Amino acid sequence: MHWTNDLIFLCMLDKYLISMHNARMSHAQRARTSSDVCFVRAYAKINLTLDVLGRRADGYHDLATVMQTVDLYDTICLTATEDSRVQLACTKPELSNGDNLVVQAAHLVRQRLAIRQGVLIELHKHIPMAAGLGGGSSDAAAVILALQQWWRLHLSHSDLLDMATSLGSDVPFFLTGGLALCEGRGERVTALAPYWPRSMRWLLLLKPAISISTAAVFRNLPASDYSDDTHSRAVSRALNAGQTPQLEDLHNSFERSVLGRYPEVARAKGDLLQAGAPFVRLSGTGPTLYAPFSELANAQKVQEQLQSQGYEVYLSRAIHPNVVDVNVY
Ligand code: C5P
Repeated sequence: MHWTNDLIFLCMLDKYLISMHNARMSHAQRARTSSDVCFVRAYAKINLTLDVLGRRADGYHDLATVMQTVDLYDTICLTATEDSRVQLACTKPELSNGDNLVVQAAHLVRQRLAIRQGVLIELHKHIPMAAGLGGGSSDAAAVILALQQWWRLHLSHSDLLDMATSLGSDVPFFLTGGLALCEGRGERVTALAPYWPRSMRWLLLLKPAISISTAAVFRNLPASDYSDDTHSRAVSRALNAGQTPQLEDLHNSFERSVLGRYPEVARAKGDLLQAGAPFVRLSGTGPTLYAPFSELANAQKVQEQLQSQGYEVYLSRAIHPNVVDVNVY
């Protein structure tokens, strides 16, 4: 397997040197069609439920969470370079470093298949950072999937899952996206039928002006806020049956402690409700809150009201990317 991939890579690097009559021509042609530039979108997510079941011996927590991708996305452009480095240029300078998960994802793929091809990653951020919307995890999954398609790599689903899990607990979900129940650390992903309630057709995502460390929120969660997986199972069952879940099952174990610890988030929730949101929930470990609307006009009215109060608010919707949105030029 390695040999084949190395050969494809040699051909990519040497594509102008290889004779049309060379025995490796078919590989060269394949490489040529895959070009030097690749774009991919990385979508954000919200958590419809997030049940924290308990702390594990390895320091992580067991979860049951229903996640849904939404159409707020980062854009990633990958360009083949002449050297063997992985470089990153990001519209947020504070993210332009080797710790960024996109750089780690590219290194991981290259190491796994002993690939030396260099790549420049340009990352146009739209998803707020450290916000509970999974932006960094989604970027990482998008890079793995884009490299796989662009470079035509032979990676099995379990290879992809291994790499994704080693990058972060939310990364496996983003390999497929859509609507899914995620369990374990987050890496056991079960796709749900792509049903979405009409009453939640439009989503406002409000990002309070603070960043929250996921690790800190987990650390500060009292055991009294642990739950079992009842909410996540009930919501999964309802959605699979094409029914609107019960409001009380849209439960996030972190909401009580995050609202208590961060007054900005509690204030934002109150302001959303006051402006007319039917209900409001925390996404992930926050601080982003989401509110559903059935009518676009109502969502827009509430968005404008909140924006006039100085809030960062996105009007979004659930999205089910059927195929990975990779464009090769
Ligand atoms: O997996 P990831 O690196 O995204 O997790 C960030 C931090 O969140 C972990 O270091 C851990 O403190 C916490 N976490 C957890 N249990 C999970 C997922 C994350 O305790 N299932």
